[in-house]
Amino acid sequence: MTEDPRPVTPTTILARELGEIAALLDAGTGVTDELTTRVHRARDLAAGLDPYLDTCTTSESAALSALASRTRSADWGSRDVISGSGPLEMEMLSGHVEGRFLAFLVHMTRAVRVLEIGMFTGYSALAMAEALPVGGEVVACEVDPYVAEFAQSCFAESVAGSAVTVEVGPALDTLRRLDGTFDLVFVDADKTGYRAYVDYLLSSDLLSEGAVIAVDNTLLQGQPYSDRPTENGRAIAEFNEYVANDPRVQQVLLPLRDGVTLIRRA
Ligand SMILES: C[S@@+](CC[C@H](N)C(=O)[O-])C[C@H]1O[C@@H](n2cnc3c(N)ncnc32)[C@H](O)[C@@H]1O
Repeated sequence: MTEDPRPVTPTTILARELGEIAALLDAGTGVTDELTTRVHRARDLAAGLDPYLDTCTTSESAALSALASRTRSADWGSRDVISGSGPLEMEMLSGHVEGRFLAFLVHMTRAVRVLEIGMFTGYSALAMAEALPVGGEVVACEVDPYVAEFAQSCFAESVAGSAVTVEVGPALDTLRRLDGTFDLVFVDADKTGYRAYVDYLLSSDLLSEGAVIAVDNTLLQGQPYSDRPTENGRAIAEFNEYVANDPRVQQVLLPLRDGVTLIRRA
């Protein structure tokens, strides 16, 4: 008989801890010292992960830090909804570790032209622009004119910001108008549109040889594998299944933040 592998990673150890805590509760042990200790251990394991990733990742630039801080200070609650993703909120911003990850992708793919679908206040666009060689460009698509202007005023504060061209309007319309090829694409707009974006990219001439598509939120808060998905959760589950069964591509889903899938033509 083969045994299950021993949990050796933060998430598998956390799952084992929670499983054993649930078993103690199911057995009606009540709140014992052991149970309390184990709940605290599980909490520390989960709560410590993101701060530790921050600590171990190269700090963000002053321009990105200023953009993040301006985004946090804005009053999103009073904004009219134009976004196809629903209300705009500061939590949309990808942030420090994912920004550094995207900058790494720019370096690793030696990208010169980058396309972003879903810009919000511009954190990821600027993070990628900072990693570009001289003469490189990020074309960033955003449907909401208010955030597009917000991002542009932040870009004006840094040299790298001048490498970002903002295209305002529904991304699919913008894609149909674009010329040339892109070495890296970051998809981070309305979740129900993901399949159409990736399908369009793969069947168009917009991808350079060896281009990489990075798709954000492909774990969508765990909804694709949980039992209570929202509309966005279902859209991501269907998107993930579609990508997994598409013979045109190879892909890997990384559990970075809310999940990032990297896709390349097979
Ligand atoms: C999660 S946010 C993007 C976050 C950004 N990439 C970052 O890292 O800071 C999603 C953005 O996509 C935009 N969006 C939603 N539907 C869109 C569409 N059809 N075309 C273009 N942008 C869209 C929203 O207005 C929102 O600003």
